[in-house]
Amino acid sequence: MKEITLEELAAFMKEQGFVYPGSEIYGGLANSFDFGPLGVELKNNVKKAWWEKFVKQSRYNVGLDSSILMNKEVWVATGHITSFNDPLIDCKKCKSRYRADKLIEDFTNGEITGDGMSNDDLVKYLYDHKVVCPNCGALDYTDIRKFNLMFKTHQGVLEDNKNEVYLRPETAQGIFVNFKNIQRTTRKKVPFGVGQVGKSFRNEITPGNFIFRVREFEQMELEFFCKPGTEIEWFQYWRKYCFDFLLSLGVKEDKLRYRDHDPEELAFYSNATTDIEFKFPWGFGELWGIASRTDYDLKAHQTHSGEALDYLDPTDNSKYIPYVVEPSVGVERVLLTVMFSAYDEEELTKADGSKDVRTVLHLHPVLAPYKVAILPLIKKNHADKALELFDLYSKYFTCVYDETANIGKRYRRQDAIGTPYAICVDDETLANNTVTVRNRDTMEQVTMSVDEVIPYIQEKLVF
Ligand code: GAP
Repeated sequence: MKEITLEELAAFMKEQGFVYPGSEIYGGLANSFDFGPLGVELKNNVKKAWWEKFVKQSRYNVGLDSSILMNKEVWVATGHITSFNDPLIDCKKCKSRYRADKLIEDFTNGEITGDGMSNDDLVKYLYDHKVVCPNCGALDYTDIRKFNLMFKTHQGVLEDNKNEVYLRPETAQGIFVNFKNIQRTTRKKVPFGVGQVGKSFRNEITPGNFIFRVREFEQMELEFFCKPGTEIEWFQYWRKYCFDFLLSLGVKEDKLRYRDHDPEELAFYSNATTDIEFKFPWGFGELWGIASRTDYDLKAHQTHSGEALDYLDPTDNSKYIPYVVEPSVGVERVLLTVMFSAYDEEELTKADGSKDVRTVLHLHPVLAPYKVAILPLIKKNHADKALELFDLYSKYFTCVYDETANIGKRYRRQDAIGTPYAICVDDETLANNTVTVRNRDTMEQVTMSVDEVIPYIQEKLVF
């Protein structure tokens, strides 16, 4: 298994059309990225896989798509306006700017995250452990200042305080403020969950590591409402469910770990939190946060809005504000994780005994940008039939058509972008209505009738 570096992966993803630097022809916009033709398919497939398992196939959960712009009071109630801050610190010597907790996290290779440490604790740690400026090596920092991560803008024509709105920094609050609406309209009984996928925005001080930490990203969040006292059981349930989901997508188990938060590290409203971490080239990094958030959010909205958000439990007529378990993950981080798990450069022995290397993305078929490549063996003889099959098959799954270069090169091209099946259209197709279907991973080919291809591929896409 080839261990690719982050720089190599970023270059590969640009070259193949997965991810481009944002606004590139204008010199770029720092840490913004655009998802190209393959990237948008992969990203949509990640979101679709999550939706399948967390909403569509769930006995408990339903979905939501709430607005990015919300009433400012939402963020007052949750404390985001006062407390959604990062600890900003500067090196006095070279003026480099850092997040104090990130300096510690990098210094300890992710073993200490700085979560739950006060500003005084952070500064003390930096000096006690001689965490020097990574740029110039000095140990001379400014005091920590709070930096609010929310992007602020104005709604309407007047740029005054009354019209201030924020781009949401998480999708979760859209779910909480709709709790009553959803419970009433679906008649769901606790326990039930609400899943949402959508954009979030944070003015990160230190974005970086390609698409790992960006200012505009997508989250896949579930808020699972349960009866107080049952939350730890559900927390354990979702903790395992998320881990298993990653394994089912082909993420390498030996690169995953749980990191349970110590009691002193927990947010004040949480009675259990775990991060699922992935071993990236720079060390373990947070992929998925699973938090038992008690009744903090619903209670805050009830107090601040004056609307009752409690629930009458028909099983015992008790009335309570449900507790919440929240698994929250970034789409870009899952995408990066599956790419690191799928990428390989395999050494092959050719028929004449010489060695060759093929680049292959062993993406799960449900994630692969294209499910099937349709390749006419000889363009002038087989292109018409191949295009006819493209028109037919692309009604069922995402296909790509390629008529350039020799067939061997075209197979390799598809291996490199993770296309799990390649169909060769040749004289046999014209004579007998059969095609050969090549498997990306085994490179074996099977012959089947043109009609058999549809159920054959569809079966591989059940997830
Ligand atoms: N509602 C809870 C919440 O938002 P979080 O730990 O701040 O919790 C959840 O974010 C997940 O969102 C993270 O585990 C990560 O996967 C993703 N995420 C957060 N900030 C991100 C960023 N700047 N860029 C990319 N993904 C990010």
